[in-house]
Amino acid sequence: MTAQANYDVLVIGSGAAGLTLALHLAARYRVALLSKQRLRDGSTWFAQGGIAAVLDSADSVESHIADTLDAGAGLCHPEAVRKTVENGAAAIQWLIDQGVDFTRDRQDYHLTKEGGHSHRRIIHSADATGRAVHSTLIERVRAAKNIDCFEQHVALDLIRQPDAAKGRFRCAGAYVLDRETEEVELFQARAVVLATGGASKAYLYTSNPDGASGDGIAMAWRAGCRVANMEFNQFHPTCLYHPKAKASLVTEALRGEGAQLKLPDGQRFMHRFDKRGELAPRDIVARAIDHEMKRLGADCLYLDISHKDPDFIRGHFPTVYNNCLQYGIDITREPIPVVPAAHYTCGGVMVDEHGRTDLDQLYAIGETTFTGLHGANRLASNSLLECLVYGRAAAMHIDASLDAVTPPRPAAPWDASRVTDSDEDVVISHNWDELRRFMWDYVGIVRTRKRLLRAEHRVRLLQQEIREFYANYRITSDLIELRNLAVVSELIIRSALDRRESRGLHYSVDYPRLRELAMDTILVPENFANQRQFV
Ligand code: FAD
Ligand code: SIN
Repeated sequence: MTAQANYDVLVIGSGAAGLTLALHLAARYRVALLSKQRLRDGSTWFAQGGIAAVLDSADSVESHIADTLDAGAGLCHPEAVRKTVENGAAAIQWLIDQGVDFTRDRQDYHLTKEGGHSHRRIIHSADATGRAVHSTLIERVRAAKNIDCFEQHVALDLIRQPDAAKGRFRCAGAYVLDRETEEVELFQARAVVLATGGASKAYLYTSNPDGASGDGIAMAWRAGCRVANMEFNQFHPTCLYHPKAKASLVTEALRGEGAQLKLPDGQRFMHRFDKRGELAPRDIVARAIDHEMKRLGADCLYLDISHKDPDFIRGHFPTVYNNCLQYGIDITREPIPVVPAAHYTCGGVMVDEHGRTDLDQLYAIGETTFTGLHGANRLASNSLLECLVYGRAAAMHIDASLDAVTPPRPAAPWDASRVTDSDEDVVISHNWDELRRFMWDYVGIVRTRKRLLRAEHRVRLLQQEIREFYANYRITSDLIELRNLAVVSELIIRSALDRRESRGLHYSVDYPRLRELAMDTILVPENFANQRQFV
C-alpha cells in the first residue's frame, strides 16, 4: 500500500531557495518540505564568500546591475537582473530579521569584494556565510507549525494531470522514495515547487556536495518544461588541490582581500589575461588558470595570501584556514595549491518572474532555474541573492493564486510489482564514474566540437543502459541520481553543440569568436507541444 500525503504546497529541496519560500507561505498554507538527505545537505550550507547586495551608500543599484550584466557577457535578461538587484537589500534585511548573524565592522556590517564587483558589496558571516544563513532558516522552519519536514525523501518524478477546465496539463504532485523504508510514496499538492539546486556533480571535480545531480532540471524536463542555457556551467577558479580534499572551495573573497594567483615559480600571471587581474570575472580567471596549467604541464597553481597579517587571515577566513590546515597547509605562511572545479549551473528550468514553469502549478526557484539573471556567467555571490528574491516572489504568487486552485485528483500509486532487486549495483557506480569523467574531459572549460560529439555518443549509450536498469530493478537513490545526471549531461552537451561561438563560460576552440547577436539556448522537450509556454 503506497503511503500518500496531501498538502497545499509541496517544496522539493531544503536549501536557501526552498526554505525561503516555505517560510513565506507557512502562515497560511500547509507545506511539505522534502530533502533527499538531511535538511542541511545541499550547496547552501557550504557557501563561503557571502551575498551580494547594495548596502553601502557609496554603492548603487545601477552599479550592481552593470557588474552583473558585464559578467553575464551579453546574455543576462535586464529585467531579471533589475528585479534581483532592486530586491537585494530587502532580502538581506529579511535574513537579519530571521536572526542571521553577519560579520560586523564596528557599527556597520563588513562588506567584502569578489571578482567582477566594482564595489565592496558582499555581506558575509566570516567565510561560512552559507552555514550561518542555512542553520538560521532551518531553525525557523523546524519551529513553524505548518511546515512538515521529510528528510531522506528523494523525489523521483513529477505527476502530470490533465486539467479539463483549462485544456492543459497541471502538476499534481510527485513520486518520492523514502530512503529509510525504501518505499515509493505519493505526495500531492495544489502547488509543487522545485528547489533542488544545481547539477555540478555531472563533473568529476566539483566544489559541490554530493546530491548536486540536477534532479529538478531532469524532472521538469521529463514533465515537459523547457530548459535553457545549460552549456554555461561555471567552474570556480580556486578549489584546494590535495589528493585527500574532496569538494573544498577556497573562497573568492580571499582574492577580494588581496590574495594573489601565482605560477609554480612564484610569478603572478593574471594581469596578462585581464586588467582586473585576480578580480576579473570567474570565467576569465578559471580559463587563465586552465591555460597556464596546460602550458606548464602543472598539476595545480597557487593562491597566496601569506603577505597579509595572520590574525586578519584567521579572523576573516577561519573555514579556509582550518580546511587547509587539516591537510598540512598553513595559509598564513605558504601559498595554497589550487585548481578550477565545476561549481555552479547557470542554466536550468525556464521560469518567469514569479518562478512559474511551463507546467501549470509547477514552480521552480534557486540554482535549478534559468531566470535570466546570470547570462553566460554568474557574478560572484549573486546566487544566494537569487534564491532569496525568487523564493519570495514565487511564494507571493502562490499566496495570491492558490485559493482559486482545486486540489489535484488522486494519482495512481507507484507500481513496483514488475521490478526485482538488482544484483549488479556495480553497473551504477561504473556508469557514475564514466559519465563524470567524460564530462570533465570532453565538456570542460575549453571545448571542441569533436570532443562534444564524442561525449554525446557516450551519454546516449549510457542512457540506454540506465533505461533498462530503471525498468527492471527496484529504485535506489543512486539510480535516481545517475538517471538525472545522464539527462542533464545530455542537455549540457546538446546546448554546447548548439552554441557556435565563445561566450562567457562556454569557450570553443572551433568557434573562438563572439557572435553579434546574443541568444539563449532553449531546449524544448519533444511531444509537449500544447503545454503553456510563458514566453
Ligand atoms: P541547494 O542549497 O543546493 O539545496 C538543494 C536541496 O534540494 C537540498 O536540500 C537537497 O537535498 C534537495 N534535493 C535535491 N534533489 C532532490 C530530490 N530529488 N528530492 C528531494 N530533495 C532534493 N553562492 C553565493 O551567492 N555566495 C557564496 O558565497 C557561494 N559560495 C558557494 C560555495 C560552495 C562550496 C558552493 C558549492 C556554492 C556556493 N555558492 C555561493 C552557490 C550557492 O551556494 C548555491 O547556488 C545555492 O546555495 C543553491 O541553493 P538552492 O536552494 O538552489 O539549492
Ligand atoms: C566563493 O566564496 O568564492 C563563492 C562565491 C560564489 O559562488 O558566489
